[in-house]
Amino acid sequence: MILGIETSCDDTCAAILDGDVLLANIVSSQTEFHARYGGVVPEVASRHHLELINPVIAEALAAAGASMKQVARVAVTTRPGLIGALLVGVATAKSIAYAGKIELTAVSHLEGHIAANYLPPDPIEPPFICLIASGGHTSIVFVRERGALELLGQTLDDAAGEALDKGARLLGLGYPGGAELDALAAGGNTGYADFPIGLDKAGSFDFSFSGVKTALYYYLRNMDGPEVKRRRADIAASYQSAVVSALIKKTLAAAASRNASAICLSGGVSANSELRRRLTTECQGAGIHLRVPPPELCTDNAAMVASAARYLPSIPFPEYLSLGARASGGFAA
Ligand code: KG4
Ligand code: ZN
Repeated sequence: MILGIETSCDDTCAAILDGDVLLANIVSSQTEFHARYGGVVPEVASRHHLELINPVIAEALAAAGASMKQVARVAVTTRPGLIGALLVGVATAKSIAYAGKIELTAVSHLEGHIAANYLPPDPIEPPFICLIASGGHTSIVFVRERGALELLGQTLDDAAGEALDKGARLLGLGYPGGAELDALAAGGNTGYADFPIGLDKAGSFDFSFSGVKTALYYYLRNMDGPEVKRRRADIAASYQSAVVSALIKKTLAAAASRNASAICLSGGVSANSELRRRLTTECQGAGIHLRVPPPELCTDNAAMVASAARYLPSIPFPEYLSLGARASGGFAA
C-alpha cells in the first residue's frame, strides 16, 4: 500500500492506494478559511495543514480499513507550491517513513495531476496531451509514456482558474468564483463583448491571462452601474469565453503538433461547462479521445500523488531525511 500526502496549496489530502485499487481519498478543503481574504493566504494555509494533516491521514487509514503497518511506501508532493504548506506534508511524510523504516517517493504536483489519469474508474495510458488548469497552474504537457513528460507550455502570469476567479470578483461574485462565473455565463451571450485571447498569435503553447483580466477591469469601469447589472451574464460569458478559447486553441494545437490522439484534462477548471462542451465537440471533429477524470481526481488530491509514486523512483530509508520542498520547479527531482 502507498500512503499519498498532498499539501501544496489549500487542501490537506491523504490517500491509500493498493496497486490499482484506491482504498481511500480524503480531502479537507480550507476554502472557507481563505474566502474572507479573497484568496489563499500562505501562512493561514500552513497553519491549517499542521492542524489537519494527522487527522486526515488517520481518516484515510480508517476509510481504507488499513493500519500504518500495512503501508509500504509514503508518497508526498515536494514541489511546486506554497513553501510553508509543502513543508508540512514533507515533514509528515518523512516522519512516518522514518518511523516505519519504509521508502519515500518525492512527487511533483504536476506529475500528480497527470497520474490522476492512471487511476480507476477509467484509466488511460500514454501517449496523450494533458491540460492542467487550476487556480494555481496552467500547463500543457505531452506525456509520451508514464514518467516521460515534455512541458510544452505554461502560463506566463496568472493561472486560468485565477483569471476566472478574479473576473468573477470584478463582477461581484464570491470566492473562488470560477464555478459561479460558469453558472452566470450559461445564460449570457459570448459574443456580447470582445475580450482579448492572451498570446493568441504567439505561435507557442504558453498562456497569458493578465491582459484579459485588465481588459475586463477597464470594460467595467467605463460602463454605467445599472448597465453592468443588466448585462452581467453577457459580460461573464464573453470574459469566460476568452479564457476558455485560449485553453482550447493551445491544447488542440499541442495535440496536433505531437500527433496525439488523446487529450486529458486535470485541475479544477476542467469542471468548466463551456470548456467541456467546446472541447468535446472539437475533439469529436478531430478524432481525438477526450478524457476528464471524475471531479475528485481533477482537483487537488493525494490519490494522484500515490498514483505517480507507482512508477517514480523511491528514496530508501533513511536517505530522505535531508529531503526538502521547493516553491517552484517542474517535474525534475
Ligand atoms: O484544482 P483546484 O481545485 O485547485 C486549486 O487551484 O487550488 O482548482 C480550483 C480552481 C479555482 O480557480 C476555481 O474557480 C476553478 O478551479 N473552478 C472552475 C469551475 N469550478 C472550479 N473554473 C471554471 N468553471 C468551473 N465550473
Ligand atoms: Zn493542483
